[in-house]
Amino acid sequence: MRLTRVPGLLFGGDYNPEQWPEEVWAEDVRLMAEAGVTMATVAVFSWSRLEPAQGVYDFGWLDRVLDLLHEHGVSADLATATATPPPWLVRAHPEVMPVDAHGVRLEFGSRQGYCPSSPIFREHTVRLATAIATRYAEHPALAMWHIGNEYADHTLECFCPESARHFRAWLQARYGTVGALNAAWGTSCWGQHYTGFEQIEPPRKAPGPVNPAQLLDWRRFCSDALLELFTAERDALREVTPAVPVTTNFMSILHGLDYWSWAAAEDLVSDDAYPDPADPESHVAVALSYDLMRSLKQRPWLLLESAPSAVSWREVNVPKPPGMMRLHSLQAVAHGADGVMFFQWRQAKYGPEKFHSALLPHGGTATRGWQDTLRLGADLRRLAEVAGTATRAEVALVLGWDSWWGLEAPESMPSNRLRLKELLLAWYAPLHARGIAVDLAPPDRDLSAYRVVIVPNLYLCTAQQAKALASVTGELVVGPFSGVVDESDQVHDGGAPGPLRELLGVAIDEFWPLADGVTQRVRHAGGDVGLARTWAEWPRVVGDAVEVLARYEGGDLDGLPATTRNGNATYLSCLLDDLTPVLDRVLHDVPALDVPLGVEATRRENHLFLLNHTSTPQQVALPQPGRDLLSETDLRGVITLAARDAVVLRIEGDT
Ligand code: GLA
Ligand code: GLA
Repeated sequence: MRLTRVPGLLFGGDYNPEQWPEEVWAEDVRLMAEAGVTMATVAVFSWSRLEPAQGVYDFGWLDRVLDLLHEHGVSADLATATATPPPWLVRAHPEVMPVDAHGVRLEFGSRQGYCPSSPIFREHTVRLATAIATRYAEHPALAMWHIGNEYADHTLECFCPESARHFRAWLQARYGTVGALNAAWGTSCWGQHYTGFEQIEPPRKAPGPVNPAQLLDWRRFCSDALLELFTAERDALREVTPAVPVTTNFMSILHGLDYWSWAAAEDLVSDDAYPDPADPESHVAVALSYDLMRSLKQRPWLLLESAPSAVSWREVNVPKPPGMMRLHSLQAVAHGADGVMFFQWRQAKYGPEKFHSALLPHGGTATRGWQDTLRLGADLRRLAEVAGTATRAEVALVLGWDSWWGLEAPESMPSNRLRLKELLLAWYAPLHARGIAVDLAPPDRDLSAYRVVIVPNLYLCTAQQAKALASVTGELVVGPFSGVVDESDQVHDGGAPGPLRELLGVAIDEFWPLADGVTQRVRHAGGDVGLARTWAEWPRVVGDAVEVLARYEGGDLDGLPATTRNGNATYLSCLLDDLTPVLDRVLHDVPALDVPLGVEATRRENHLFLLNHTSTPQQVALPQPGRDLLSETDLRGVITLAARDAVVLRIEGDT
């Protein structure tokens, strides 16, 4: 299935022609054609140039840009230009600007300055989106719509009176009566009993810790409120151009937005990813987020933004050494991307991003950066046949936003050291090192197709989710501090693991977080000794057939079960430094690829990607002979992958 009507793998980037005199545009499109660029994202921040006064449109310049792009074989990911409202709108309606938790209204002069709940802002975005869609519906360059930009990047929440009204309406729809809300929020604690919805406000800065159930609903509401804003524009576009796919660029694994519900609202998933070149392990975390992107709609996705070299928003912006931009781009394709795009096409002359790298650097076509651009364009053309191919994973990692929000609530947890991204990565990294494909899955999906389902943490677990986990037919692995609370952040009767108790055959008497730097020894049944850090529990076996796989050794927990197994369900009551003994036990039926450390191996149907993320050559034994699409040579046996080099092997016959 193709993402857009553009054939092959998409290649290109954000294009901001309004930052340049028109004379430069001709050179832009000539060089785009030379590099093999097939798509440009345009007009993301162009509202003030497209509508200089209310209802007065200036589309002439964008007409010329789109014509030029089309004449040079470049399609448009055309934005609705609503990522920054124009100054005239902000001055006429200051209330469209967001208010922070201290009640301070933020000022114009950056971007994403809007209250997600502002009806005025919403009305204007829909009007602009409709005007743009009407203008360009038949334009041959139009390939897809790009709504807003990186929702929740600068503005995730707003605490203004309009947001409060919207929050109350959302609560009223969820609970019906204030009595039901009181029960769900547990307002008998700390004297918070409400007698009317009008008494409820967003969780602004309060004297002490805010009710965690209120915070959880606020997180849900904030994700939904931005999604409503997105959906209003999407509906306007669909009315005019029903056949043009709609996306908005995600920000990898983002705490603020429930990407399961967001992905369901768009036609194709796109992501912006900026692994830090200074971090030698960043390719592992980014692979995890790429696998999430592929899993969101269970089909290919698009890397819509990435950096050719340095970014400009870290404390220290380290550039990508030679080969890394190509390698990281191929990595996205290896994980299911059907295109690689960048921020941005031409390096800016001014503004906060003038030092951010670009496909065409300040130094022009004489630079190493431009050579990288040309090389990548050529490589992506060689991989055209990969577009549309699927990835098959036998292992699923479960990720749910409600539970994440509950887990990382400030100021009320047994430990603030449990961070969901780290918990996911602790499982993902060893799977990735074994060349095992991983899907991400929401906790309430049917998981029966997987051989192994790993739940790194499910702090918030509903009865329905527990049922979904019980229907896993393969191996199920559940991490600590799971099944603790229900959908209202209320502790399950009898304590953890609540609705998972029967499935796991254990009850948790007490949480036993470990102080920073403290380790707890664990002895596995086979005799190996491991270490737990950060988190442990005082468990009690309650099932008849529970096997203890490891016990705590020494310290206050001495002799208690650390990991257990009940039928197909393994439970870990602690965070282990080394998960090898657990993984060895559950991965028996899952094919792995034996590759050296730092070499990544992934498959898309009959294409095997081998990526050397190290800075030294690596020997890899090919599982089968095949043709390397990049070097256009036939390979077999043991090959040497040069530092930061890659092979994309087309394997004949077996898929
Ligand atoms: C103080 C407060 C109590 C409770 C405890 C918790 O003693 O008075 O209401 O919050 O702290 O340790
Ligand atoms: C994000 C934004 C872009 C740009 C880049 C810089 O991807 O969408 O507008 O700011 O970051 O890295």
